Parts: sequence; C-alpha cells; structure tokens
Amino acid sequence: MVQRRRRRTEADFEEVPVIDFTLAERDPEAYYKQLRFALEDVGFLVFSNIPGFEDGFQKELFATATDLFGRPQEWKDALGTANSHSLRGYFRADTLPGPHKAYAEAYRFGADLPAPGEDAPFWLRLHEGPNQWPAASDLPQFREQMNTLFSRYHALNLALNQHICHLLDLPSDGLDEFFPTKTIEYNSAIWHYFPLTPEMKKAENGFVQGMHEHRDPSTFVTCLIQSRAGLQVQNHAGRWLDVPMVPGGVVCNIGMQLMKLTGGKLVATTHRVNTLKISQDRFTIPYVLSTRLEKEIRPLPQFASPTAAKEHVAPNPKIAKLMSIPDPLVRSGYARLSLFPAATAKLYPKEFEEAHQLGIV
Ligand SMILES: [Fe+2]
Repeated sequence: MVQRRRRRTEADFEEVPVIDFTLAERDPEAYYKQLRFALEDVGFLVFSNIPGFEDGFQKELFATATDLFGRPQEWKDALGTANSHSLRGYFRADTLPGPHKAYAEAYRFGADLPAPGEDAPFWLRLHEGPNQWPAASDLPQFREQMNTLFSRYHALNLALNQHICHLLDLPSDGLDEFFPTKTIEYNSAIWHYFPLTPEMKKAENGFVQGMHEHRDPSTFVTCLIQSRAGLQVQNHAGRWLDVPMVPGGVVCNIGMQLMKLTGGKLVATTHRVNTLKISQDRFTIPYVLSTRLEKEIRPLPQFASPTAAKEHVAPNPKIAKLMSIPDPLVRSGYARLSLFPAATAKLYPKEFEEAHQLGIV
C-alpha cells in the first residue's frame, strides 16, 4: 500500500530543547528564537536556571514526596480521593481500568476552597473543594513547601504567559481574560511512578506503560518538575524521544486549549511516561494555571484561518470525543470523570453514565 505523505508546515525535531530561562532578560533575541521553535514546532521544552526552582529546592520537595508515599498503605488510603467530591487526595493509578491506568500512585490537591454544596452542578463540585492535607504531626513541612512551590509556579506561569503573548504579537496582557483574576486556582498531583520490575524488561516494543500517551486536553500550559527521566514525547514522524533530565529544570508543554486558541500555531504534542526508562522511583509535581472554566476557547481572529492550523499526530479517539463537547463547563466535568472512573462512577453515577454513552469513559 502506498502511504500518502502528510503535508506539514512545522519543522520536525529530534530532541526536546533545553532553554536557559535567564536568556529572556540577558539576550531576548536568542531566547525568543529558541522559544518559538519549542512552542510552535515541538510543543515541549525544559527551562533551566529559573530563579526559585534550584536543584536543592526541588530535592527537598522530592524528599517530602518520598516520605508521603513511603507511609503505610492504610495511612495513604485514609486520604483517598473516594472521600472527596472534588477528587482531592491519594489514589492508586495502577489499578484504574482502561486507558488512564498508570504504573503509579498520586496525591491530588489544588486551590483549597470550600465545597460548593450538593445543589451545585457536577462540574463545579468536581472542580472546587477542600484538600485532604496530611496531618501536620505526620508531615509538618508539607503544606508550607507546597504553598511555596505553587506561588513560584504561579509567578512562572504569569511570566510565561507574557512571553507567549510576545511570541504571538499580542499585547502583554492578551491572555489575561482567560484566567481568573480574583482567586489563584490550580490543580496538581504529586506523582510517584513505580520502577521497572525484572518481568517488565521483556517488553519488546520499547514501552512499558507508566502513563498512557496523551495530549493535555484542558490546559494552556503545563509545567512540571521531575526527580528522574521517564517522560517521552512523540515527534511529527511518530518517533518517541526522551525528555532530558535537567537538574533544577522545569518541563513545560502546550495544552490543547492554547493550541485551539492559536489555530494550531502553538502545538500540543503527544507524550507518555515509559516505565522501561525508570530504574528507581520517579517523582513529579506538575502545575496547571487553571483557566476560567466558563470561558469558551475559540481561535483568536488572527489565527482563525484554516491555513494557520498545523497538522498533528491524530489524538486518542476518546479525547477527540471529549473535545467535541460544546459546553466548556460540562466538558471540564467529563474530563475529570474520565480521569477517575472508579471514584466518579460512585460519586456521580448519572453523569458518569452519560459520559459513557458518549464514548468518553
Ligand atoms: Fe500530560
């Protein structure tokens, strides 16, 4: 069979760029040249030398993560997400049914807000609520460390949004309307990826699932610190490349909402975690600066031309179905349902069944 070559406008890549963040001040021309390639053609990059993200600081966080996940299973289960309508707390991802199974456990948290009440729509109840913090007597440094990290992440994301505006020829506040102004909202999870076992080494296709392949469906930008390598991205030819481990580095990638806003000018790239690359426990702490849920994302007028959109490796069909839900609030709720099927099938049976009928879960 003759394979038709896809027409592409983006350059392909053989490695994920590492960009010195201090270049933004010292040598803007070099910085924006590298950033343009990273965001328009790769969709991923690793920043080095971001003030406040030094290797020593990150190591302290990963020591706390080691402590958290080293606790007895009953201690962790007492903080389980099934206790929480906003799905905050601990969960095992290696027992999840379906494609969201990951060879990992995680502790999920975010902006600490009161529960919106039983009469609130399901997507709001899934989004907002109190965290299940570990007891201060067990992990006294936990909350303060996470609050420090997340205020630094927040500042980084605001700066990065301005850099993206510069790249896109938008005013420096051109993305502000998509983010809440009165509250600082974020969602995160500390992830613990389990290391490779001797049986897994027999994998023949070069991949053992740590995290399934996906693009970030509901985000503008995701940032992440990692204790070890293991993350891989797919280039435009379909080849998997390792994201380099940079001590003190922060991995950033474009999500599908920002891709949509820019008519595909900035790319959201498929990625996964490959356990075959993980010989010892791997910890990651990602950060997403939440956008306003009610704000519908459409291509900005200057990016609305179909010729501006670049082509990409086809998304997972379930993600495509999710992205076709027109109401952004309902879509955000279904996105959460699909990530936590066991918990949400019990907590939100009606909406879970609807999502199932639509082929999303
Ligand atoms: Fe992701």
